[in-house]
Amino acid sequence: MNSPKHVAIIMDGNGRWGIKKKNSRNFGHKKGLEVVEKIIDASIEEKIEYLTLFVFSTENWKRPMKEIKYLFKLLDSYIDKKLNNLINKNVKILILGDLKPFPVSLKNKINKVQRLTKSNKNIQINMAINYGSRQELINAINKIKRKKLLINEKNINNHLYTKNIPDPEILIRTGNTYRISNFLIWQIIYSEIFFVKKMWPDFNEYDFKKIIKKFKSINRNFGGLNVSVK
Ligand code: IPE
Ligand code: IPE
Ligand code: MG
Repeated sequence: MNSPKHVAIIMDGNGRWGIKKKNSRNFGHKKGLEVVEKIIDASIEEKIEYLTLFVFSTENWKRPMKEIKYLFKLLDSYIDKKLNNLINKNVKILILGDLKPFPVSLKNKINKVQRLTKSNKNIQINMAINYGSRQELINAINKIKRKKLLINEKNINNHLYTKNIPDPEILIRTGNTYRISNFLIWQIIYSEIFFVKKMWPDFNEYDFKKIIKKFKSINRNFGGLNVSVK
């Protein structure tokens, strides 16, 4: 069976993990970032072409400013520390989401990462930051309207952040929570969905590879039939 081209992940459970370790929610976010590294490497080994990571949702602004600031700080220092590493691994970074509300220095840094990794070919990491699926769809439809184009599947696809990226075959959500939380609602109509009980900081490359293996055994019908009918 074929490997998936595109895997999307809702990396949930950092905060609860931090508290359970008798530490802070932010401690969980820090640990969670280490898991991201491992999953990027595992994705390269599995020859996955696109890995989409939900980093910050349009709803996450409801959190205390202290936590939001910490998340941005983590992202900022991650870029400082890892940019060369990402370039060496031939990783392309693309941001899905609206960067407008971010501090100028972070915005510039993120844009620099996108610019410097633009032609990299090993894997594309889509980082969904200040991303909301409804916002993405509304923006797309408005752009289509302005251009006086038809509202059809092709035109909608071409105006989403995920333009030119195939739909994810796999969606993973860790954190023992069974919902989509405004992530890629248009793109996941036929994704195989894996809900994982573990909190994100406990998730590892073996859990990830097990999911890929399970995926390969699934019959995907897309509404048709997988047996020949006489
Ligand atoms: C990480 O998990 C996802 C982010 C929004 C950064 P959470 O921070 O939602 O952790 P829980 O779900 O509260 O445990
Ligand atoms: C989804 O997790 C967003 C990210 C993983 C970035 P949330 O923790 O924000 O989702 P809800 O609030 O439990 O639905
Ligand atoms: Mg959560």
